[in-house]
Amino acid sequence: MTTTLVKAPFVNQLTINTQAIHTNLKQLRKHLPNDTRIMAIVKSSGYGVRDTVKLTKMLASFGVDLFGLAYTHEAIHLRDAGITEELVVLTPLREDLDALVHYNLQPVVSDPDMVLNLSQKKTPLKLHLHVNTGMNRLGCPVQKALPLARLITDDPFLRLEGVMTHFCSADNPDQDPLTHQQIQQFRSVLNELKAHEIPVPWIHASNSAGAIRFHIPECNLIRPGLTLYGIQPCDGEPLPLKCALSLKSKLIGLHKCGRGESVSYGRTYRIRNQEALIGVIPLGYHDGIHRAYSNRARVWVHGVEVPQVGTICMDMMMVDVTEVPNAAIGDEVVLFGKEQPPETFASFGKTIAHELISCLGPRIERTFI
Ligand SMILES: Cc1ncc(COP(=O)(O)O)c(C=O)c1O
Repeated sequence: MTTTLVKAPFVNQLTINTQAIHTNLKQLRKHLPNDTRIMAIVKSSGYGVRDTVKLTKMLASFGVDLFGLAYTHEAIHLRDAGITEELVVLTPLREDLDALVHYNLQPVVSDPDMVLNLSQKKTPLKLHLHVNTGMNRLGCPVQKALPLARLITDDPFLRLEGVMTHFCSADNPDQDPLTHQQIQQFRSVLNELKAHEIPVPWIHASNSAGAIRFHIPECNLIRPGLTLYGIQPCDGEPLPLKCALSLKSKLIGLHKCGRGESVSYGRTYRIRNQEALIGVIPLGYHDGIHRAYSNRARVWVHGVEVPQVGTICMDMMMVDVTEVPNAAIGDEVVLFGKEQPPETFASFGKTIAHELISCLGPRIERTFI
């Protein structure tokens, strides 16, 4: 007996426009000095894009030199899929030593214990040294950078491949005094290393906002994530980026409701007009559209901007489509894309585009076009 595989197609679609990503890389490069290279941040499943193997291969073909992952197992996933590029693990854990060595990964280190434990593996390994200049998340204190760099360079197996810091508010002009202070501190470390003739192949500090807003001549590498997808990381003079992500769904239900009726759990929305047409979309908080978006988000149906109404459910949300001419089940709904960028949609949920896209759930099909 033959078995026929019948699949239920995904209604929710996240499309990733590869040409737009290429354009965004070119725009970033145009904005930077000629010799600046790129470490693409592809952690957290490539910010929710999911197919990090495809993403990494594509970015490598566009000339990206290094790839930044948060955790070791994310890098192992890429190695197991045959990715041979330079993979930097931003947050290596003490449990990961064997894996870091075995998979030839580049851990970012902040403390002597990690360095000494890696040294005991007696295997050649490239390390990046993280200096804390104000983020207070990872990194060694500025005063400890030189001894830590020495510990690495004095080791016969370890190589100091990079020195980095991370800005906490490069996107916010109100915090520029702090960012300049961070740059100064980082610069003092780099000068110290130079004075002690410690060579460092890669010097990196900037995320997307930092790369756009600050020119740091000492740095020869940037670490963008968001801008690859065409999302503006900060207000003010934007780069001419192209939105590479679009989230679409469909109307799966329609209700005619009368004045005074409520929509969804908790009755947080009441119909004020004589009559309203309420549409149902198969996206809810399990899909990453959190309850914070309730009664605040706006989506597009047939080119008409409509309000989301009622509390967002686990699997569904409702929208008021009264103003959409001939709204029908099956009509396409755009949450973000050409009509409104992800950063605008994110603002409805009082969040940022990083959180919106990286939390999109598994019931959304990802398609590279
Ligand atoms: C250490 C580090 N560098 C770079 C980035 C990329 O930031 P963005 O997506 O804003 O460019 C991140 C993202 O969180 C990060 O943690």
